[in-house]
Amino acid sequence: MVAADSLREDVIAGLSLPQKTLSPKYFYDATGSRLFDAICRLREYYPTRCELALTRRNLEDIARFTGRGAELIEYGSGASVKTRLLLGALRPAAYVPVDISEAALQGAAGRLAREFPWLELHAVVGDFMQPLRLPVYRRRSRRRRVVYFPGSTIGNLTPEEAHAFLRMTRGQVGARGAMLVGVDLKKDANILHAAYNDARGVTAAFNLNLLARINRELGGDFDLRRFAHYAFYNAALGRIEMHLVSLAKQTVAIGGHRFGFDTGESIHTENSCKYSVEEFRTLALAAGFRSERVWLDAKRYFALFGLVAS
Ligand code: SAH
Ligand code: AVI
Repeated sequence: MVAADSLREDVIAGLSLPQKTLSPKYFYDATGSRLFDAICRLREYYPTRCELALTRRNLEDIARFTGRGAELIEYGSGASVKTRLLLGALRPAAYVPVDISEAALQGAAGRLAREFPWLELHAVVGDFMQPLRLPVYRRRSRRRRVVYFPGSTIGNLTPEEAHAFLRMTRGQVGARGAMLVGVDLKKDANILHAAYNDARGVTAAFNLNLLARINRELGGDFDLRRFAHYAFYNAALGRIEMHLVSLAKQTVAIGGHRFGFDTGESIHTENSCKYSVEEFRTLALAAGFRSERVWLDAKRYFALFGLVAS
């Protein structure tokens, strides 16, 4: 769980900016994590299906790349659905799922413990952008560290943040370490647009839940009927942007703070950056990782990068 203090501070600071902004890491309370799982099952949301398919198809090759018996650390593990495939094939010495959502982590850890009784599992609630104190495992010593970062969660960071994150991770895995990173690729803007504007409105509910969460946890008085989900592909910056647009001129109170909104003014809630294989290769290299392997799905919509220290 995120400390209420940091949520409050970040929300007040973000809504005080000229372009009002909230961090996407706050989407994931228990409701948000459930809504994200529902997004993953949507017809329009191709990334999960593509990454699952390419992982299934290349499982043995991925296991050869990481080696067996490694320490597997996963950032933003959520429901750990893709990880289930890897655990059987990689047979890691320990698995460390790290997530900001305590609810998602608890559910996943319980299921994994039942399904993989042989697995040494250490769940960590925390923010992967901050240096984390990782648990000390049994049999630690000279195990290879492998960081798994699927789902294109890296796309929710700006390229500058992604660079800093990769650099920090490079320090964590050390010279013999490796990383598996899922990256959503650039493609037809209509396909991207549909994935973030699904017909059933699940993505809209996911976006609006951020305001509901602020109401629940910080005593805000957002009227959700007066904000609308808005997602579009910003081609110049190669990213989907999600916003919540005010449908009226209004004032919102959160604790003792008041925030004015003009009609049409937005809160920027998420970036989802899309890369070409070459763009991501270059980004990783600048942060100290060489792309040794790249696995793609049949449509070339999504890539899983096998990175080693350069
Ligand atoms: N890895 C899963 C889930 C991706 S959704 C998949 O591929 O389907 C993104 C996950 O990252 C969520 O579970 C969310 O709670 C977590 N998350 C987002 N920002 C985070 C942060 N800064 N620190 C830790 N976890 C974060
Ligand atoms: C977790 N992350 C990679 C998702 C994405 O596609 O950027 C979050 C999401 N936002 C809207 N739909 C899904």
